[in-house]
Amino acid sequence: MSSKKEILIGLKKLGIFFVILLGLFGLLYLNNIGAWFRTQNYKPPYLSFIGDPQTSIGISFETPQACNATIYYGLSSSNLNMSQTENQVRTLHFFNLTNLLPDTTYYYLINATEATYAFMNKVEQFHTAPAFGSKSLFRFAVLGDTRPDIFGFSKHSEILQLIKARNPRFVLNVGDIVMGPTRDDHWDRFFNEIHVLTKNVPYMVSMGNHEHHEWGGEHDAGQTYLKYMNYPGIEWYYSFNYSNVCFISMNIEDEDILTQTQLDWLNQTLFKANNSPEINWIILYFHVPPYSATENHPEIIEKVVQPYFIPYRVDLVFAGHHHHYERLEVDGIPYIITGGGGAELEVYLGETQWTQCAANTYQFCDVVVNGTQLSVTCIDYNNLVIDQLNLTAWRNV
Ligand SMILES: [Fe+2]
Repeated sequence: MSSKKEILIGLKKLGIFFVILLGLFGLLYLNNIGAWFRTQNYKPPYLSFIGDPQTSIGISFETPQACNATIYYGLSSSNLNMSQTENQVRTLHFFNLTNLLPDTTYYYLINATEATYAFMNKVEQFHTAPAFGSKSLFRFAVLGDTRPDIFGFSKHSEILQLIKARNPRFVLNVGDIVMGPTRDDHWDRFFNEIHVLTKNVPYMVSMGNHEHHEWGGEHDAGQTYLKYMNYPGIEWYYSFNYSNVCFISMNIEDEDILTQTQLDWLNQTLFKANNSPEINWIILYFHVPPYSATENHPEIIEKVVQPYFIPYRVDLVFAGHHHHYERLEVDGIPYIITGGGGAELEVYLGETQWTQCAANTYQFCDVVVNGTQLSVTCIDYNNLVIDQLNLTAWRNV
């Protein structure tokens, strides 16, 4: 009798277990199936640097219905006396406003004849970069690994609110912004989430593995990333100067991209920046770090890419991929892993011999450049400071 009761209890527990398991798979299924219905190919405007940040700004967006859009812009919200109009109807819209004045606030408004969307007919603003070599104070934010997980959960929006409150001039994302490169719903979600910032400030992404080849073997070799991003040069990897800082984004996700051509470009860009009197700082950002408290970093970055940093004494390197915060110092160069931007956290396995600080938390980096002084502050999900690095420039001072 007793053994029958035990069997019944055991079967009941097994039943509950399977119901829970079924529920979890159901959520996963609904999230993915639901994505088909949620996908609208709707991406409100996102600003980026395409050319010189002093004199130009990129404004891109995607509309479900093809239309012929116009951007009106000017120095006053009540006098948008300049305009740029597309020469044909389209769904993907890329504008590059040029011949702008440095360090100046511009106002803009988008409209179209064939369709109207929520972001249209509203006056927004952006501010151009200070003159090249300027020593005036500015701030930017760096975050990474903001993608939703398999159930669609991410803390990205909450982190963005903390970033917005600090009023950065632009944002850098070190990659992994979607679960898989062909998840249209995740691309829509990403651009709709960042709109709170990117209608006013550029947001520059360095491609992560999930934009290249993740999620059940999906592999489009970064073509969707290329489709939406509007960055300088060839867009796989790019560089821009802002005030007295040279920013370099590398692409290390595929050996077809991490070619000698990219390494030669890196070498030339570093050489040029290091020999420009206006440049005090060189900051690199890319997805997978050469070092971290987790073990799975590819040796190619440490052995092939990192040796280029040393002769030029690169000032700061940002990466992500691992979902935690970590600051390391190797060969005198600070490396910051800022992978707590929204995706599920990873517990790091233990600190390395180079680790200066590490934390398992959602976070972003708030960077203030004040001429020859630079500070990186790691802010966590509760808006608390968990680490700070202060640097003094040595280049061209
Ligand atoms: Fe990654």
